[in-house]
Amino acid sequence: MDFEDKTAIVTGGAKGIGRGIALELARRGSNVVIADLDEEAAREVVAEIKSGGSQSYYCETDVTQQWSTDDMIEVTIEEFGHVDVLVNNAGVGGASGFTTRKTPSVEDWQATFDVNVYGIVNGTQSVESYMVERGYGKIVNIASVAGRGGRPGFATYAASKAAAINVSQAWAFKLAPHGINVNTVCPGLIWTPLWESIAERRKSTGQPSTGLTPRQIFQQTVSELVPLGREQTADDVGNAVAFLASDRASSITGQALNVDGGIRQN
Ligand SMILES: NC(=O)c1ccc[n+]([C@@H]2O[C@H](COP(=O)([O-])OP(=O)(O)OC[C@H]3O[C@@H](n4cnc5c(N)ncnc54)[C@H](O)[C@@H]3O)[C@@H](O)[C@H]2O)c1
Repeated sequence: MDFEDKTAIVTGGAKGIGRGIALELARRGSNVVIADLDEEAAREVVAEIKSGGSQSYYCETDVTQQWSTDDMIEVTIEEFGHVDVLVNNAGVGGASGFTTRKTPSVEDWQATFDVNVYGIVNGTQSVESYMVERGYGKIVNIASVAGRGGRPGFATYAASKAAAINVSQAWAFKLAPHGINVNTVCPGLIWTPLWESIAERRKSTGQPSTGLTPRQIFQQTVSELVPLGREQTADDVGNAVAFLASDRASSITGQALNVDGGIRQN
């Protein structure tokens, strides 16, 4: 198994894509720390991982706070002895109430950059000196196909994801001499609580799909945008992350891999 005796941290691992990544790493033998704000959902994932035979631990974490990501690394080392993989996955679509706003507010810009960009920066800054000292480490950041190019309507989120891709490349250069790989996965369309809130926003702001349920809005978007004609799953993303976090990908760094059914060719 790729991750036997390895320990991975997944931020935002309590739900959606993060949960899928955490379960996939655990299936491949990793201990997994779920670093999230949502304790109840996180504890369910921890229990699911343990029932599958791997070790897991919940660490209450707010990725927007450097002290909290510092704590996340410290607690993981105390619990499992080492950190091999950090998946910076936590992300938001906007500030509280963004689903009701057609035009993003200042708070929406702040929240998307705080979580989607500084969340990656904080997590990476908290672990890098430790990984450098060991001469080993894998960092996988979750951006989005939205970060590959501007589109109308959701510039806050898309711009934060473009920044996420860019900071990942910067850290890949910085950490490469120390044997540390930093890569990005750009998911396409996955039905999670986040996408549900995006669909609710479209509905409540009267965008084209009014009259459809959030799930129908999602399905319509999939059929309009995805050449392969199907939605992506948290497992699809988990498989890509597991590859990039494994020693099989040791010659790959600074890359951004779309897992999007062909939405973007860049
Ligand atoms: N769902 C999609 O279609 C899609 C597509 C492209 C990219 N993404 C990205 O994938 C990642 C996961 O998205 P998802 O759809 O699973 O979202 P989600 O809302 O379903 O889950 C996000 C998780 O992050 C946690 N979280 C939020 N803020 C946090 C913080 N400050 N500190 C710690 N944890 C925090 C939440 O509690 C939740 O468990 C995000 O970065 C998102 O932008 C999602």
